[in-house]
Amino acid sequence: LKKRKKSKQMAEKTKKSGGGLAGIVAGDSAISTVGIGMGLNYRGYDIVDLAKNSTFEDVAYLILFGKLPTSKQLEEFLDQIVKARSLPSQLKDILERIPVDVHPMDMMRTVSSFLGLIEPETKENDQYKVAIRLLGIFGPAMAYWYHFAHSGVRITEQTGPKDTIACNLVKLLHLSQTADPIIVKAVDVSLILYAEHDFNASTFAARVTVSTLADFYSGITTAIGTLRGPLHGGANEAVMQYLQNIHSIEEANAFLNESFKSKKLIMGFGHRVYKNGDPRSDIIKEYSKLLSEKQPKYGKKLLYQVSEHIETRVVNEKKKFPNLDFYSASTYHQCGVPTELFTPIFVMSRITGWAAHIFEQRANNKLIRPTSNYTGPQKLSFVPLSQRL
Ligand code: ACO
Repeated sequence: LKKRKKSKQMAEKTKKSGGGLAGIVAGDSAISTVGIGMGLNYRGYDIVDLAKNSTFEDVAYLILFGKLPTSKQLEEFLDQIVKARSLPSQLKDILERIPVDVHPMDMMRTVSSFLGLIEPETKENDQYKVAIRLLGIFGPAMAYWYHFAHSGVRITEQTGPKDTIACNLVKLLHLSQTADPIIVKAVDVSLILYAEHDFNASTFAARVTVSTLADFYSGITTAIGTLRGPLHGGANEAVMQYLQNIHSIEEANAFLNESFKSKKLIMGFGHRVYKNGDPRSDIIKEYSKLLSEKQPKYGKKLLYQVSEHIETRVVNEKKKFPNLDFYSASTYHQCGVPTELFTPIFVMSRITGWAAHIFEQRANNKLIRPTSNYTGPQKLSFVPLSQRL
């Protein structure tokens, strides 16, 4: 009876919250919080401090293992990541068969799924090894597919033995042996900001999957599928799709007037948790601005100005604030990243958060299986097949 009363209360609470489990606490976690008054922090460290003082590898270690690494631990961690970049020949064969016109998120989902076939999670190849393997391999696999599909070029995944994930990615994408430090820094900061975010949709999906005792790769494959949608990770790409058609403040105004009039969702604005602004937005915005002023090849002053104008009007007129995806779009564009790869880069980063949540779920597992508030018909009399109209 007590249980039934509690679940009735939960159903009421869900209904009141407007659905989508908004505001429902679905479990404990010690990985990050977006808690009121605390800002976003990973393992107790403020995201602003981490973005300013840390590197993505430093933060990935923190998220995965619970504390900041010593220099020796960080060095060893980077060595493991560099080794994990190597692409098995079977995976290369698969990547070469994936057509150019698929969505790259489907390719990323396949990378995770296929690696689970050829390097399954076992007692020896445990969850920590698989997590580092995926952290290392996603960028090179994405770049391998991208260049092969677009121009038949087979890239070599290793760039330099000490190259960070951001540096390796930039070199691979630009097919260059050098990388502009401003671009590398901007990508590195974006990876820090995208790394972890509490019980967001894709992370929660990963936890649900592994709560059935499914393997690690299944959890990550589920998460990639969930991240793909434009209400979640797919928003950074969706932002660029409209920004690239806007070439002046007048065109920005026309786009906004039409969107406001037709009550269209403006991608890159609003958030389930942050109703008064996403703390990550101001950080990435700085990089969008910096690139627009300092990056000679890809920097675009007008793109930044248009973005800022859109932000001002949406905030003033709709009271919706930019989320991380809004300025990530102009940042990535000005780093010379193809638009279709924006969300796959989110995967390269969020693998850390997903992995930490899988470890945490497994450490104290309980099958995640909520109940629904049934609203369908009741007590119908069965109609034999011959009598159905
Ligand atoms: N543009 C226009 N209207 C919006 C927007 C937006 N970006 N976001 C919310 N609204 C509207 C809703 O349609 C709703 O209108 P209604 O009351 O008339 O139905 C109202 O504002 C209230 O919405 P919320 O309850 O605040 O939104 P919710 O928490 O359900 O959704 C979400 C959050 C999905 C992120 C939403 O703001 C949205 O769709 N934004 C655009 C997509 C996007 O940028 N996603 C990225 C999320 S961040 C990330 O994944 C890193």
